[in-house]
Amino acid sequence: MGKMERFSFVALVAGILFFLFADFISWALPMFVLKDIPKKSVQDLVAEAIAKNTTAWSDFKKLAMYYPETFKKLCEYTEGFSGATEVIKDCKPNEKTFAKALKIGHRWYVAEGCWNCHSQMVRPVSNETLRFGIPGVSNTVSYPSEYKNELQAPVLWGTKRVGPDLIREAAVHNIGWQVAHLYNPLYTSPGSNMPGYPWYFTKDKNGNIVPNERGLSLIAYIMWLGSWEVKPPKEFRIEAKASETAVPGATEAETAKEEKVATVETKSVKKEEKKADGQAIFQSKGCAACHQAAVDTVGPSLKKIAQAYAGKKDQLIAFLKGKHEAIVDPAKFGIMQPQLNTTKVLSDEELNALADFILKHK
Ligand code: HEC
Ligand code: HEC
Repeated sequence: MGKMERFSFVALVAGILFFLFADFISWALPMFVLKDIPKKSVQDLVAEAIAKNTTAWSDFKKLAMYYPETFKKLCEYTEGFSGATEVIKDCKPNEKTFAKALKIGHRWYVAEGCWNCHSQMVRPVSNETLRFGIPGVSNTVSYPSEYKNELQAPVLWGTKRVGPDLIREAAVHNIGWQVAHLYNPLYTSPGSNMPGYPWYFTKDKNGNIVPNERGLSLIAYIMWLGSWEVKPPKEFRIEAKASETAVPGATEAETAKEEKVATVETKSVKKEEKKADGQAIFQSKGCAACHQAAVDTVGPSLKKIAQAYAGKKDQLIAFLKGKHEAIVDPAKFGIMQPQLNTTKVLSDEELNALADFILKHK
């Protein structure tokens, strides 16, 4: 009995000591690791992105090109809240405008509480690099020096993952997807429980969804996340399949349910149409993210496209090969253009099936 008592006492004291030691390690160790790494300002980060020509920088230039009016407003926009107090005269994508957008985007990311549902850290456990890392690249675990900068403060590691980790988001989706998703996540991610953020958008006179100054900035910030790790010019975003991107944050059970729904739908469509090919290509290349059968979402409905191209199948195929200009909604061609990298490389047979599938929707 006495021996047992002695043993449990030793175990208790050791337990307490280990607890204190672990506690010490968990705050002291990161502190020592980060001590000598200088904290980067937004200006430093922007200069680096431009010098290295990262995807964040090219995406920002694209945002400016796709949404020129919003971009102009961004130059004039001031906001004490995010420290963007300067009106920028030289209104071009440059260090100043990029820094301004990132600052605003970062502040609104914090203010909206996106971090309640999204973490920003890929850990070296549980195959997280496969789930949240750069697709096709295995070694994309987060490392301390990534976080020593103004755009990661306050600490945005998050506590909970209702949605996927975002620290490698730059590699995952393109601008068109981000715009559609932020406006209404259900446009791109069936079953998503992420709320829509329509107050970051306006509609132009044609009814197109256009991000406002803050929306453009928020998207620039999201697309900056992890851009320092992405090595273009591989077609790094385009190959993501609709089925893979549909509900990335869902649990396995939910994904299985989603897949079931998807197969049921495909089956019923198959019964109606024998050309399953075109449909399959359309689904697997992610076209459905922006094109619905009968309603206009990010892109025009298939019905509208089919009507515009009625009797002009060759011209439609030429468009998909990147050899014919847009006729349906040329003002929004900027969103569609990157998708042509996907369709261009299809075989003639595949393009034919795809065109048949689209034209069926007349
Ligand atoms: C209530 C929880 C919740 C909140 C709040 C939330 N999200 Fe999400 N988010 C999700 C879920 C769930 C998904 C996965 C399904 C989807 O794609 O919509 C997701 C997906 C995303 C994705 C795509 C990630 C990927 O790689 O597929 C981005 C980008 C994103 N959210 C950005 C944001 C931003 C920016 C905010 C704040 C303005 C935000 N989210 C707020 C739950 C949330
Ligand atoms: C990120 C959103 C997005 C995705 C993904 C997308 N599109 Fe589009 N698409 C658009 C927008 C926006 C337009 C309107 C601009 C235009 O007419 O070119 C469009 C237009 C079109 C048009 C009409 C072209 C014309 O003459 O105006 C066709 C055909 C088309 N898309 C086919 C496809 C196919 C096939 C895929 C899949 C490989 C695809 N789209 C994926 C957004 C998208």
